[in-house]
This record gives sequence, C-alpha cells and structure tokens, in this order.
Amino acid sequence: MQYRRLGSSGLSLSALSFGAWLTFGAQVGRGEARNLVAAAWDHGINFFDNAETYANGEAERVMGDVIADLRLPRDGYCVSSKVFFGAVDDPRPTQRGLSRKHVHDACHAALVRLRVDYLDLYFCHRPDPDTPVEETVWAMDALIRQGKVLYWGTSEWPAATIREALRIAHQHHLHAPVMEQPQYNLLHRERVELEYAPLYSESGIGTTVWSPLASGLLTGKYDAGMPGDARLGRDGNAWLQRMLLGDKRDARLAAARRFTALAAELGVAPAPLAIAWCLSNPHVSTVILGASRVAQLVQNLEALALVERFDDGVWRRVEAATQV
Ligand SMILES: NC(=O)c1ccc[n+]([C@@H]2O[C@H](COP(=O)([O-])OP(=O)(O)OC[C@H]3O[C@@H](n4cnc5c(N)ncnc54)[C@H](OP(=O)(O)O)[C@@H]3O)[C@@H](O)[C@H]2O)c1
Repeated sequence: MQYRRLGSSGLSLSALSFGAWLTFGAQVGRGEARNLVAAAWDHGINFFDNAETYANGEAERVMGDVIADLRLPRDGYCVSSKVFFGAVDDPRPTQRGLSRKHVHDACHAALVRLRVDYLDLYFCHRPDPDTPVEETVWAMDALIRQGKVLYWGTSEWPAATIREALRIAHQHHLHAPVMEQPQYNLLHRERVELEYAPLYSESGIGTTVWSPLASGLLTGKYDAGMPGDARLGRDGNAWLQRMLLGDKRDARLAAARRFTALAAELGVAPAPLAIAWCLSNPHVSTVILGASRVAQLVQNLEALALVERFDDGVWRRVEAATQV
C-alpha cells in the first residue's frame, strides 16, 4: 500500500480506501462485509468510509460490528461518517441538514452505530441552503473540541461555499475543513480538476474521491448491456443509471466501450486502470473503492502497480478515449 497525506493535514491515509455505499446493509451480507473489511485491512487499507444515510444507518452498523469482530486496533484505522441526508425515510426537519442540532445528533448516532468513541473524518455530505455556513462551522469545531471528531470536511460543496467555511473558521480561530469528498472518475472530472484547482494550494485541502469506476461503468461489465446482477442493472437502481448516464447515455456507454478496448490493448483489466488514472492526479489524497465481493477489491488493488508502470502519455490516451 502507498500512503498519502490528507491535504496539508498530518493524517496519512492509504491511497486506496474502502467505502460501504449501496453494499453494506443492503446488497452484501454480513459475512461478505467481514471478508471485504478483512481483505482491505490485510492489504494496508486504513480508511473506511461511511455515512448516516447509507442503508439508513445499517451500513455503519455492519461496518462497526465487523471492525469490532476483527479486533482492528483503533489507532491503526480511520473511519468516517457523513451528515446531511438523515438516517430515516422521510426525515423530520431536525433529522436532516447541517443545523447544529442535526450535526450534533447525527455524530452521536454514528458513534454508536460504528462502535467508536470518535470519528476520524466527518463530512458535511452536501451543502445545506437552509443553514448558515457559520452555524455548521461552529458545530463541527465544537465536536472536534469535544474529542468526538478529529478532522472535518465537505462533500460536493461548491468551491465558493468551501471558501466561505474556510474564511469563517480562520476569522474565529475555529477548526477549518481539511478535506472534500467529490466524485472523480474518467467520466466526471471537472469539479476536481477545474473548480477546486485553486483550493489545493490556497488552503491545502485534501480529497477523498468517490466512484472511481463510475459505479462499475469503467469495468467493461456494461459493454454488452445491463446485467441484472450488477449495480446498474439491479432492480430499483434506475435512478442511478439516470444519474450516471443522463441525456448522454449512448455517448457515455460508447466511451466506456472505448476505454475497455484501450485497456485490452494495454494488456490490463479496465477496473484497476480506471482507478490508477485517479491515483495519477497528485491532488487525490485517497481513492475510495467500492466492491461487492473480495475478488473485485483484490483486482482493484492492482491499480497501485499500474500507476507506477504507466506514464503521462498513457494517461492522455486514456483521457482521449473516454472523452464524451
Ligand atoms: N460523498 C458522496 O456523495 C459519495 C457518493 C457515492 C459514493 N461515495 C463513497 O465512495 C465509495 C465508492 O463509490 P462506489 O461504490 O460508487 O465506487 P465504484 O468503484 O465506482 O463502484 C463500485 C461498484 O462497482 C462494481 N465493481 C467494483 N470493482 C469491480 C471490478 N473489479 N469488476 C467489476 N465490477 C466492479 C461493484 O458493483 P456490482 O458488483 O454491484 O456491479 C462495486 O460495488 C462508496 O462506498 C462511498 O463510501 C461517496
């Protein structure tokens, strides 16, 4: 494993980390969840990503149980939660958002589900137009001072709102956000590469990027249709297909097919190639992997070797192939 600093903070995270979205507490049973966390840990992964909303808290419960069962040393791994969407269907006004009330309650609920005394990383999962940024910054600072959170950050916040949070934190000598969690893959690049570009040097913000495979689109498994046993083809996931493919469905599927063909030409599997491309961006602190079985996770870890093997010329070809 390779370890990278989370932006300018002193926290070293594994360059590849592991998340629970759509798998833990849902698609994947407890036995496989345990195998996945054990395999991740055995390969040097030290950051496990979660959120209050994943399977309405069940993903955190399963992860907490599995980590406790495996007796991972608390000082050897980092675990996150995210607050915003709530952990129940049809949340009441105080059960969602970034008010002091919900940030506080959601943190304590996540601590119980994850069976830990503190969260290493705590994210504001989306910006909340109904809460002043100042209130959220003070709420996060309070949790850090109480020892319940170590590092806080944002996920999918516009650069301007992140800047506002940084300004407020500096003005009042509060703990500032140190990381952002944006989507980043060959089919979704703009925010990480353009919108956030000035922030990296300005504020030392780190990134824990998500969906490196565009939910599996960059693995080749959708090149001949939508298999019912894969994420995008599964019942109830039509919303995800719409989110990923949108009104450029044919063009995006064609880009994915061109990517598979290029991977074959390079003699490598598409999934680790797509992940290695993410790692080739120095502003990426860690790439959060998702996997529904151990064999996928193990294959994805091959990305670490590929990022050493391929140079910029290869990455430019990969980018050209996936241009939509
Ligand atoms: N902050 C946010 O808003 C946000 C949003 C989304 C995700 N995240 C975080 O990022 C993590 C990763 O996102 P993601 O799960 O979307 O990542 P991803 O890597 O884009 O997709 C993972 C899925 O692709 C398939 N897959 C993975 N490796 C494969 C392989 N080698 N061959 C074939 N199929 C493979 C599996 O689905 P199937 O086997 O079911 O096809 C797997 O569950 C999440 O767990 C979560 O922690 C954060």
